[in-house]
Amino acid sequence: MTRSEALLAAKKDFLVPCVYHFYQRPPVLVRGEGAYLFDSEGRRYLDCFCGVTVVSAGHSNPEILEAAIDQLRRLQHTTTIYLTEPMFDLARAIAELTPPPLRRSFFCASGSEANEGALMLSALATGRQECVYLREGLHGRTKWAMNVTGLDMWRTDPQPLTTAHAVPGPRHPDSLPALERLLRSEKIAAVIAEPIQGNGGIVVPPDHYWPELRRLCDQYGTLLIADEVQTAWNRTGRWFALQHWQVVPDIMTVAKALGNGFPIAAYITSDALAAHYTRPGAATFGGNLVSCRAALATLEFHRRHDLGRRSETLGKHLTERLRQLQQRHPIVAEVRGLGLMLGMELRNADGSPANERTDAVLEAMKDAGFLIGKTGPGRNVLTFLPPLIVEAAALDEMVDALDRTLG
Ligand SMILES: Cc1ncc(COP(=O)(O)O)c(C=O)c1O
Repeated sequence: MTRSEALLAAKKDFLVPCVYHFYQRPPVLVRGEGAYLFDSEGRRYLDCFCGVTVVSAGHSNPEILEAAIDQLRRLQHTTTIYLTEPMFDLARAIAELTPPPLRRSFFCASGSEANEGALMLSALATGRQECVYLREGLHGRTKWAMNVTGLDMWRTDPQPLTTAHAVPGPRHPDSLPALERLLRSEKIAAVIAEPIQGNGGIVVPPDHYWPELRRLCDQYGTLLIADEVQTAWNRTGRWFALQHWQVVPDIMTVAKALGNGFPIAAYITSDALAAHYTRPGAATFGGNLVSCRAALATLEFHRRHDLGRRSETLGKHLTERLRQLQQRHPIVAEVRGLGLMLGMELRNADGSPANERTDAVLEAMKDAGFLIGKTGPGRNVLTFLPPLIVEAAALDEMVDALDRTLG
């Protein structure tokens, strides 16, 4: 039995069956370095999925590890009920990056928790109980976060909330009109949306979308929550993706790449909105010392290496290369995205989602040494989210392998 087979057997015995893995023959990953992962048999893979947009500064980044190990040696954990410095330093560092008036952070451990907290704050601040979300969006696994998740695949709640209302996704012509019909009730506390839908298949809204969404929320006294869990921290070529459209949300949620692999998340809001949450609130792992030190080192690494510009430049290059493949392979319906958050949609000749072919491509690319992702409601969007430190030549090798695989 290979190590991979042994783990798949153990999975049947010990894990909840919902835990799923990519690939028919999944490798057992044992080591990471920079843009590369290594399996138990010593094979090397270019990581073009980053543990879903997490390891933007590269695997085992020495500067980030150094900060985390230093903190581990001093003091690992206290929780937010004690005063420790890293959480305050991180809150200050984030406030220097977020657009005003966003400057107050509540730290927690996952994107789901951050969204759950943001939705609760919106209800506290407005006195309203209902919310609106977009089809094909994804916001997490907790009660509220799952109920505002529009992707069917990730909606498991047997008793869905009746206070969460879906509208069509951002490229659908009825998205904003449907939203306005709901906002007119003046019962909606918040609209929650991803600037670019990640799990929905890298869906970039038309340019008017976010400014118009902001305007509608203002008109009806509804708060705007931007879920930047995937898109923040230079993934799209800006610190925050909404900066592409000069829109400032009322609450922003962040997680994933903030800790470059150390669990940390937050919702970030203004003084005025934060003032509504005065009852005690604590998170056991919120503001964890090691995660905060790692996050501070991550932000410093991004700043010093100008990863925003790198993401933008490499993203343009990769988009161009992927579009060349689109011209050669009729199965490629569309290439889209911003910065190094890119998707390639595969469709069959009859227009249906080519999900089986997507799986086959994913498997063949893995066997060729490239880990790419797949997303979208039809599971037919090849997804490219490489570390922002990746070299252009490595991306070119990946595109050449994809060209051969699609052929
Ligand atoms: C946009 C978005 N929001 C929220 C989440 C949930 O984050 P977590 O898995 O850290 O709870 C995800 C996870 O993929 C996500 O992509």
